[in-house]
Amino acid sequence: MKNVAVIGYGVVGSGTVELFEKNRESINQKVGRDCDIKYIVDLRDFPGDPFEDRMVKDFNVVLEDSEIEVVAEVIGGIEPAFTFTKKALESGKSVVTSNKALVAAKGAELLKIAHEHNVNYLFEASVGGGIPIIRPINKCLAGNTIEQISGILNGTTNFILTKMIREQMDFDAALKMAQELGYAEADPTADVEGEDACRKICILGSLAYGKHIYPEDVHCSGITRITLDDVAYAENAGYAIKLIGSVKAVEDGKVTAIVCPRLVSKSNLLATVDGVYNAISVTGDGVGDVLFYGQGAGKLPTASAVVGDIIDCLKHPDRSIMISWEDNTDKSYVVKYKTVENAMYVRIQADNADQLKPAISEMFGKLTYIERAGRPDNELAFITPTMVENVIDEKLAELSHSAEIKSKIRLL
Ligand code: HSE
Repeated sequence: MKNVAVIGYGVVGSGTVELFEKNRESINQKVGRDCDIKYIVDLRDFPGDPFEDRMVKDFNVVLEDSEIEVVAEVIGGIEPAFTFTKKALESGKSVVTSNKALVAAKGAELLKIAHEHNVNYLFEASVGGGIPIIRPINKCLAGNTIEQISGILNGTTNFILTKMIREQMDFDAALKMAQELGYAEADPTADVEGEDACRKICILGSLAYGKHIYPEDVHCSGITRITLDDVAYAENAGYAIKLIGSVKAVEDGKVTAIVCPRLVSKSNLLATVDGVYNAISVTGDGVGDVLFYGQGAGKLPTASAVVGDIIDCLKHPDRSIMISWEDNTDKSYVVKYKTVENAMYVRIQADNADQLKPAISEMFGKLTYIERAGRPDNELAFITPTMVENVIDEKLAELSHSAEIKSKIRLL
C-alpha cells in the first residue's frame, strides 16, 4: 500500500524520504505489511529528483486519498502546518512531526483532536533530533515522578559554542558553518536566541508534568552575548559554557523552566557534549539520573525519529497511543525565574578593577574570583554564592555605580 505522505521537502523531509526508501524492506517487515510513500507535498519544483513522480503541490490531494494513513508534517512553523495537521487528524489520518514550534504552541489541542479521532499525533523528532526522549519519558520512565529535566537541546548553538571553546572561532563564522551543514533553522535567530531550545524544554516539561508549558511563559536567553573572554574565564575555572534548557517541579504543583547559557562544571557529563550533539538529563524519583545523548539536529538523525514514528503509526492503525497533557491557562504555573536561586558568573569592567574586590566581597559574602591569561587591569570576573536571582541583581545594580557589568551567566 502507498499509505504515507510527507509534507515539506526540505532537510528533514528529504531525509525522511531517503531513509524510508533505503530501509523500506525492513520497515515493511516491522510493520507486517507493504507500505510506501505515495506523496511528497511541496510548493517548489524539484526537477530531476528521484522522487519527482510523487510530488504534488496541493495538500488536499493527500486529505482526499483514503489510502493515506500517516502524514509526516516536516514543514516547520505554525501555519500552514497547524491547519494541515488538524485537517489530517480530523479526517482520521495519523500525523508525525519534527515541528517543535507547532507542538510547543498547540500540542495540547492537537493531541486532544488525535485522541478524539482515534489516531496518533507523534513528535519524537521534535526534541533532540534522533535521540529517543519522548517515548522514554512517556513510557519507560512513567513509573517515576520526574524531578528535573535539563539538557543541551540545540545542536546549532552547541556547535557554535564548541567552535568558540575549542578553536577560538568567532561567533559569525561558526554560525555560517552550522547553516551550511543544515543544522540551523532557516532563521538562525530561533537557534542563537534560545527560542528553539525553549520550545523543546516546553515540550519535555509538558509531557513530564502533564500541563502545557507555553514558550512565552519561559525566560529564554541565547548565546549571542557570550564572548571569547567569558569562554576563557570559564575554561580556566573548570567550566564549559553551554546553552541549557531546564524544567523542574517545585512546590504547590508549579514548575520552574528556563533556557539560558550556563557554566557547566567539567565534572558534569553535559560539559563533554560537543558539536551538534545534544544530551538530556532526566532525574526520576525511582530511576535516579538518566542521560540521553545523540545527534540533536541534521537530516538523517532527525529523519530517524520521524520514520520511527511513521512505523509506530503504521503498526498501530486502530490505536491511539496515549501521549497527552492538559491545556493550561494559569500564568503562575511557571514560577518567575528571578525568584529562583542560582550561583552567577559575573564579569565587570572598571578602572583598577582589583581595587573593587573588598567592596564586592562585602556585598556578596563568600565568592570566588577567577582569572584568564592576559586579564587586563580594568577587568574582574567572579562567581557569586548561590542566591535568589533578584538579590544578585540588586547587588549588581549597586555595583554598577562603580563598574560596568559586562557578563552575567548562571551556573548549572
Ligand atoms: N536548529 C535545530 C538545532 C534543529 O540546531 O538543534 C533541530 O531541532
